[in-house]
Formats: sequence, C-alpha cells, structure tokens
Amino acid sequence: MWLGIVLGAAVHGRVQLRRRRLFLLARRLLRAPFGLLGGGTFHVTARHAESVVPYPRRVPPALAVHALEKRYGSVHALRGVDLSVEEGELVGLLGPNGAGKSTLVKIAVGLVRATRGQAEVAGARAGSRAARAELGYLAELFRFPGWYTADEVLTLHQRLTRSDGGAAERGRLLERVALDDARDRRVDGMSKGMQQRLGIAQALVGSPRVLVLDEPTSALDPAGRRIVRVLLEELRGRGVSVLLNSHLLSEIELVCDRVAILRAGEVVAAGVPAELSRPRGIELETDEGTRTIEGATREDAPRLVAEAVAAGRQVYGVRVLTSTLEDTYLEAVGDEVS
Ligand SMILES: Nc1ncnc2c1ncn2[C@@H]1O[C@H](COP(=O)(O)OP(=O)(O)OP(=O)(O)O)[C@@H](O)[C@H]1O
Ligand SMILES: [Mg+2]
Repeated sequence: MWLGIVLGAAVHGRVQLRRRRLFLLARRLLRAPFGLLGGGTFHVTARHAESVVPYPRRVPPALAVHALEKRYGSVHALRGVDLSVEEGELVGLLGPNGAGKSTLVKIAVGLVRATRGQAEVAGARAGSRAARAELGYLAELFRFPGWYTADEVLTLHQRLTRSDGGAAERGRLLERVALDDARDRRVDGMSKGMQQRLGIAQALVGSPRVLVLDEPTSALDPAGRRIVRVLLEELRGRGVSVLLNSHLLSEIELVCDRVAILRAGEVVAAGVPAELSRPRGIELETDEGTRTIEGATREDAPRLVAEAVAAGRQVYGVRVLTSTLEDTYLEAVGDEVS
C-alpha cells in the first residue's frame, strides 16, 4: 500500500510538474503576441494555470500623465498636470504662450525628463523603447535637411522607425498630405506649409498608434488645415489616438473629442468642446426688432415664441446663443501672454 501511495504521489507530482511546464510554455507563447499587441494588456495568473485562459486587463490609455511637474531652473513649466488620451481619442491641448504645452508633449515623447510625476504611452514609461515604438511625433520647431527630397525625408524616417512600408507607404503618405506632386522636390524648395505637411507625413511613418502633434497647422492655409482635419478624422476612425497642441481654437473645436486648457503649467479647464461652450441666452427677432433674453436655454425657445405670437408679434427668427470655445478659453486664461 505504501508503495502504491509513494508511486501515486510521484505520478501526481509528475502530472503537476508537467502541468506547470505546460502552463509556463503556454504563458511564454501567449506573452509574445499579446505583448506586441498591448504592452502587457493580457496576463495569465497562476490561479488560472489549469485552464490557461488569458483575460483582458483594462486597456491602458494611449497616453497618460499624472501629477506631472517640470522645473527648468527657476521656471516652473508644469505644476502637477493630469491628462489622458484614451484609445482612438483626439485630445486638444490649448493654452497661451509659455503655458507648458510643448513641455508636456516633450516629456510624453521622452525628449525631456519630468521633475516629478509619471508619463506613460500605452502603459509603457514615456521615453522607453516600448513607448517610443507606439509614437509618431511632429515637433513644434523642426527642420529637415534642405537638400533632401520629400521622398528621401520619408525614407530616412522609415529607416529610423524600421518601417518596411517601402515606396508604397511613402506614396500613400505624401498623397494623404497632398504632396504627391512634390515627391522629388527638395525641402529647401518647399514653402513653410508644404514642409509642415511633410512633417505630418513623417509622423505617420510606420502607422503609429499614438500621434503627438505640436502645432501641426500653424503654417497652413485654410485648405491645408482642412486636409489635416480630414486626415485626423480618418485616423481617429482607424483607432489612432492623437494629442494635438494648437492655438487655433476653431480647429480644435471642430476636430477634438476633448480639450484641456493649460495656464502657467496647470490645467484650468477640461472637457468636451460642446460642454465647455455654455448657453448664453436666446435671441428673438420680431417686427419690434431683435432682443436677447439672457439666461434662456434651448428648452425655453418654444415658450418664448408662443408668448411673442400671443402678444401679436410677427416672429422672424429665434436663435440659441452659446459661448464659443474662445469665450471659455479667454475666461480661463484671461488675456495672459508671456
Ligand atoms: N529648455 C528650456 N529651458 C528653460 N526654460 C524652458 C525650456 N523650455 C521651455 N521653457 C520654459 O517653460 C515654460 C513653458 O514652455 P513651453 O514651450 O512648454 O510652452 P508652450 O505652452 O508650448 O508655449 P507656445 O505656445 O509658445 O509654444 C516657458 O516659460 C518656457 O520659457
Ligand atoms: Mg509650444
């Protein structure tokens, strides 16, 4: 019987050992593809070793900063900023000159080291190889070698990002920023706006999942801005996440899912553009002229029209007034410039 028990234990132990080995092998096999997919968005716990079923953890934000601080000597550029860009979200960062927008972006892409706080890209520490692999970046001030053609600039960046997209990717990207006719034009022979569009194409090399664009439309004419807007909407449709710095409030209002307004290194307002634009009243145009009913909302409009008609007025128009993002921005930052 003893022999039976000892043998039984040994066999059981072997089975356990084999199970454990199988589990480790399965975990190793699963880790490779899932690691590539999400920087550790899947994991297998020992408790589930028997079934080896991976379950998804909460997907980390595409980009997140927490309690972020940056000091440049005596200049306190960021004073504890919290901000996140979720998967497939387009977030606009607004603020006056010197508010800290570019500093935040440079920390997120790993060019500047934070004094305090955390910055992560797809769950990986900002600046790490894993974080950089997810990113496409257009700097606020950039300069490509003047003697390079548009095609050569993209080829260089394909080498840097190890993209194997080849000529097809370069052609597609130039077309998307309306530079397909300028493929062989040297950078020195390009206008500022053309160079900025080439910069955007450069940021898209290798199809990054997270795009960080520091004032990508500052040099663009209205047609160029529209090209970028359409491109951003298309990217969002494909699940790309974007953090966008800009001073062009109307652009931000049109394209962004969420905005954050920075002032002197702090977030002073944040939300969906429509939420930040508050109701300002109702404008009623009658045969007596136009008057504004302050504080009235869209819900008050039918009653106001009915009252005017009951009082014998001819009603020609009724308009709901809302404050624009510009009003909200100016309220939040005042007339501050530095
Ligand atoms: N390398 C640096 N050394 C010292 N101070 C710096 C450095 N970079 C930025 N600053 C300072 O940090 C603050 C924030 O600058 P930042 O460039 O982040 O502002 P911004 O919001 O991008 O402004 P803009 O709208 O003009 O681009 C400013 O006071 C700036 O002078
Ligand atoms: Mg800047």
